[in-house]
Amino acid sequence: MHVPKPPFAGSKSERYAELNAQLAALLGAERDGVANCANMAALYFEALPELNWFGFYFLRGEELVLGPFQGKVACVRIPVTRGVCGAAARERKTVVVPDVQAFAGHIACDAASRSEIVVPLLDGARLLGVLDADSPRQNRFDADDAAGLEAAAQILVQSSDFSRLSG
Ligand code: SME
Repeated sequence: MHVPKPPFAGSKSERYAELNAQLAALLGAERDGVANCANMAALYFEALPELNWFGFYFLRGEELVLGPFQGKVACVRIPVTRGVCGAAARERKTVVVPDVQAFAGHIACDAASRSEIVVPLLDGARLLGVLDADSPRQNRFDADDAAGLEAAAQILVQSSDFSRLSG
């Protein structure tokens, strides 16, 4: 039987602070980038409501290549010239898309997706890849999600060794 997740206790930013502290503890003893992305995807996919996909793409040359994720099977390679992921990678900025059908060039991996947020994984000025979350609800992501996931991305980058993954 499907049991709905309980509503957030506290504000969204308080919930992210709690979740990001859990992430820091979870990743604290491990530096392998793939292992840390895999556990982060499992943690956030379960903890954040109304998601149908949460995962990572790593920058390899001019392409983003699929990394660990939770959700339906996804496109493996995304040129940095394409999609929401490509936009976040090119601009090195978080991109929030309230309605994916209104975003020219959106790449639909799961037809259920209605809104999306993509956060660049930055090690200083160096782009390692992107964190991507999709929702079946329009307008699912706001500035609190952007701030919370940007902080989470920094915890991930600082806790992990990506030297054999990106380039
Ligand atoms: N929608 C993304 C592609 C990746 S999937 O959402 C997992 C994009 O437009 O870049």
